[in-house]
Amino acid sequence: MARLVIVSNRVAIPEDGGKAVAAGGLAVAVKEAFTAYEGLWFGWSGNITEEPSEEPTLIDRGRVQYAVVDLSPQDHLEYYAGFANRALWPIMHYRLGLGAFSRSDYAGYSRVNRTFARALAKLVEPDDIIWVHDYHLLPLAAELRGLGLDNPIGYFHHIPWPAADVFNSLPASTELLRAIVDYDLIGLQTEADVQNLQRNLVDTQRAIPLGGGSLMVDGRRTRIRAFPIGIDVAGFKEAADKANANKVVRETIAGLRTRKLLIGVDRLDYSKGVSERMEAVESFFASNPDQRGNVTYIQITPKSRSEVPEYEQLARDVNEKVGEINGSLGDPAWTPIQYITKAYPRPVLAGLYRAARVGLVTPMRDGMNLVAKEYVVAQSEDDPGVLVLSKFAGSARQMPEALLINPYDRFEVAEAIRSALYMPKAERLARWKPMVERMTREDVDWWARNFLSELENFRTMEREPPTA
Ligand code: G6P
Repeated sequence: MARLVIVSNRVAIPEDGGKAVAAGGLAVAVKEAFTAYEGLWFGWSGNITEEPSEEPTLIDRGRVQYAVVDLSPQDHLEYYAGFANRALWPIMHYRLGLGAFSRSDYAGYSRVNRTFARALAKLVEPDDIIWVHDYHLLPLAAELRGLGLDNPIGYFHHIPWPAADVFNSLPASTELLRAIVDYDLIGLQTEADVQNLQRNLVDTQRAIPLGGGSLMVDGRRTRIRAFPIGIDVAGFKEAADKANANKVVRETIAGLRTRKLLIGVDRLDYSKGVSERMEAVESFFASNPDQRGNVTYIQITPKSRSEVPEYEQLARDVNEKVGEINGSLGDPAWTPIQYITKAYPRPVLAGLYRAARVGLVTPMRDGMNLVAKEYVVAQSEDDPGVLVLSKFAGSARQMPEALLINPYDRFEVAEAIRSALYMPKAERLARWKPMVERMTREDVDWWARNFLSELENFRTMEREPPTA
């Protein structure tokens, strides 16, 4: 049986005994891919050390072996905090104004990709299939090919792929586009992302479309297709069903008394639109004064990438906004926004989602957004809540029954909150049912199986040159 080799910047190593540590979308999704394969998961250890060894630390956990390397302070600064999160992240999320490009960051990004490739190449066997994840590792396949590896190599991009003019404003765009075609299969979240990348390759790299998402670029064949990522539906449902056993959930619900709950759960990131969402909630209370004291908004926002200046600034902006809104609208008996910067485990989140009449998922731009899916799956048929969803989240394509809004329009979001709060049960049910059914069909297992079976094909059919 072929081994699966997964590569991602973050690696979620389970504790000895099998309990997974990280509950993030990528970590859960990748873990799922290993249910059908034995294999290896390679990436950054999460540690920063002076003069790290190029030899990975190997950790065995049953059928999966983990191989992790440390980063030096300079690598961390240039590759992770610099090029990946100050150049690629804002550009991929259409935020040109927040991008900061530097040649040394790009050099660090290329260097770490080369170092990873050298360390990984020593561990890969000829029959392995390799699946690389996310924007930290765009040039990894090109580096591996340079070392002589001929294995099928796939890439999944968890975030949006922007329109060509936006992507090409990145000074390193040409090199990155050239490098990415060394992947045999490129998976993106939506059809729109696929169109963006394909058109860019056709226009700037003289790629020749061969049909079915395949392209010929400089004598190499690659395929670009949409694989919308799903969630662990069964696990999430079960967590929501059992959530009452959880003290935090019970106490939160008791504290609400008769108030209706609006919930938002996001990493503290400008792409998530947390600040804009708070302004929309403020507008809602301004135009619905009778709702003051009757509705509570809980926003759970674990801190993220604090070493990046734009994130530090965002943390200050959001703190200021919460203070301003609570100060001007609240009274001794009611705080409109409860803002929490701690991370909570799945059982707590699932319970709070179920208790919330409205799920607010209003990113300015998002590859998929798994919170939207988790919120829907956590609802029960007896009294489902309403999802207010940004039309700029990839998940909006799979969830047209949600209340779709433009996050740049605080008044539209405020109106959607009002409709959601007043929506009769029959309509809530009619919107929720098709969404939960779709999420159940298109879960994380479906996603991983689709991607991997297509990547497996490259061992045979796809490698052949076209006959006509
Ligand atoms: C997004 C990215 C992931 C990343 C995660 C957390 O979901 O797609 O690749 O791991 O954010 O960000 P961090 O910078 O902490 O890894």
